[in-house]
Order: sequence, then structure tokens, then C-alpha cells
Amino acid sequence: MPIPFIDLQAQRKRLGQPLEDAILKVVRSGAYIMGPEVAEFEAALAAFGEAPFALSCGSGTEALILPLMAWGIGPGDAVFCPSFTFAATAEVMPLVGASPVFVDIVPETYNLDPASLEAAIEAVKAKGELIPRAVIAVDLFGQPADYPAIAEVCRKHGLKLIADSAQGFGCTLSGQHPIHWADVATTSFFPAKPLGGYGDSGAVLSKDARFHDLLVSLRVHGQAVKSDIEGKTFEHDPKYLNVRIGLNGRMDTIQAAILLQKLAIFSDEIEARNRVAERYAAGLGDLVTAPKVIEGGVSVWAQYTVETPDRDGLAASLREQGVPSAVYYPIPIHRQGVYSGYPTAPGGLPVTEAKAGKVISLPMHAYLTPDDQDQVIAAVRAFVKKNS
Ligand SMILES: Cc1ncc(COP(=O)(O)O)c(C=O)c1O
Repeated sequence: MPIPFIDLQAQRKRLGQPLEDAILKVVRSGAYIMGPEVAEFEAALAAFGEAPFALSCGSGTEALILPLMAWGIGPGDAVFCPSFTFAATAEVMPLVGASPVFVDIVPETYNLDPASLEAAIEAVKAKGELIPRAVIAVDLFGQPADYPAIAEVCRKHGLKLIADSAQGFGCTLSGQHPIHWADVATTSFFPAKPLGGYGDSGAVLSKDARFHDLLVSLRVHGQAVKSDIEGKTFEHDPKYLNVRIGLNGRMDTIQAAILLQKLAIFSDEIEARNRVAERYAAGLGDLVTAPKVIEGGVSVWAQYTVETPDRDGLAASLREQGVPSAVYYPIPIHRQGVYSGYPTAPGGLPVTEAKAGKVISLPMHAYLTPDDQDQVIAAVRAFVKKNS
């Protein structure tokens, strides 16, 4: 049996009949859009993520667009983000007409470097062409960004902070979830994410009731919400009163029903992922650069990413030995053609550029058996030994 990079079937078997019953319940109910499971899941997600509010939506990308829309971020505005991330983090700025400004990362954690962020903000302010509005920090590969330092930079410059926790939902720093420091935390339930559904969906966690209400409105074509209609009377159903430009960003009821089942075992899976990470570190730490988690941080290990000078040689050797691997990310976003015209932090992004040529991710999921893991470790060791 080949080792899967991510084993979604092992999890499905564990969840068993109750998962299939939950799906069938929705199918039989006919409440495919905004059925009761959606609100139930939002409440459970908010509780898990220790946020006052959670809004489900159609994807992790929509989860990033919605707060930018809610804050009225658009043409002439700058939003700072790392370049060493999935495209969606930066894509949402041009989608609302704003400009991403790319910031470098800390070499050990791959997450936003607060010093590079500060320098980028100062440079944008000095140039005077764009107005700094917000920062999107990413919990890359599952571990929390340096939120205390990043939030301090945001506070100093009056910027909003989004935690893009698409890969890191469930991660903590000093026992706190990213929303403790950020205005908004977003996540993705793409199937391969640590908390993934059986299709696309996402969520926005936030702290303020009026802001959450605005997101509720934006999620369904800017429809009027309670605060829009309070004290007013209408001749027609206010459901069809559209008071702002929004989109269709709903999560399907079936996804909510699936995610409710998956959330119930998520803490246990995070522990299992941490055991896998510890075993990798013990087996490989002397040969490759194993990942380092920020002090006080708990990662959910979306990826187990190591560094080696001959990354492509290692990938080819692993393939021959029946071990899958993946490279996240071979081309930093600011180096992709469509993003190359946007500003970067002063001095460029040397750490980001160096990492893109060295990183390689090994199989990682909560159901990786010690035997399979030993096979991965042996395959990496065989390659490194042959080439040293
Ligand atoms: C860091 C990051 N941000 C945003 C997204 C977008 O999520 P989605 O694919 O659900 O739109 C992803 C995932 O694919 C991601 O990894």
C-alpha cells in the first residue's frame, strides 16, 4: 500500500456511520441552504476558536474578502501580507481593488517578520501613493504567526489585522487562539486542511456584534440585516432589500453537517498530528532542517516541512521509494507574473526567496502509523546518506 500524503479515508472510517447519517439527514431534510446545521456549526466553531462570533462562508478565499469588503478597503489602499503563502492570501486585495504589499518572513517559522512589516509600512507611508489599511498574517503550515509583535505594529499604525488561519485553525500561542490578537481570523475547510470538509467552505471569526452583522449581510448579496431595518417598516419582504454590494458566500448545509462531526474529534487529531511531528523531529532532526515552532506556540501541522539543499533530488528519490512529497511554495507570490507589479518591503524578500528553493513537505496527517512514518524517515535518511 503506498503511503498517502494526507489520508482522508482513515478519518472517514473513524467517523463511521454517524457521519454518513448526518449527511443523509440533510439530504432528506431538503434544507440544503442555511439549514439548522449551519448555525449549529457556527456556534461550535466560535466556541472551539474562542471567538465571540463565527460566520461560515463558501471558501477560505471568501473568508478573506468579506472583512476587506466590510472595512471598505479598496482602490488606493495597501494591505500587507507575506509572499510565502498560498495565492489566496494576496489575491483578495486586487479583487477589492486594493494593493497587496509583500513582506518578508522569519526564517525559522516561515511566518510574517514584524521588522519587515514595520519597514514596509514606513516605506508605503513615505511614498504616499497608497494608504496602509490592514495586515494579513498567515499561520503557515499550521503554526501561529508572531501575533503579539504583529498586533503591536498594527496598533502603532492604526491598521486592522486579519489572521489567515486557513492552514492553522486550532493553533495557539501562549494558550490563546490568533483571534485574541487579530480583529478577524479566517479559515478554510478545503478537504486537505487540518479541519477540512468534503468540498469547499470557510469561516470568519470576529469579535464585534455589528461587524459580524455586516458580514452576515455581505455573505448574502448585501441583504438588510437587523440593524438596517430596526425601526423601519416595509411593504415587501425585507429579505429582498439589498442595502450594500455583497456576494453569494454561503456554506452548504451538508458541509456544516460534516464539519460538526469532524470538529468533535479535532482536538484529538491535533494531538495526534503533534505526536507525528515529534517522531519526525526525532528521526530526521540530525539530517535535515526540521521545522521550529514559535516559543509558546502549538501547531496543528497542516504540513511537516523540512529544508534540504538538494530539494528536487530528495523529491525524486522519495518518489522512487514510494513516498509522496510536495513543495509549498516553489514560487513566492511576488515572483508570479500577475503579482510582480505590487510593492515589496524595502530590500526585497531575501528570506522568502531562499526558502522557496529549499522547502519540501513530507506526508502528514493524524492517522499516519508509526510503521509508515518509519518508512518515510528511512527514505529521507537513505537519500541524505547516499549524497553526503
Ligand atoms: C494560507 C491560505 N489562505 C487562504 C486559502 C484559501 O482557502 P480556500 O481554498 O478555501 O479558498 C488557503 C487554502 O487553500 C491557504 O492555504
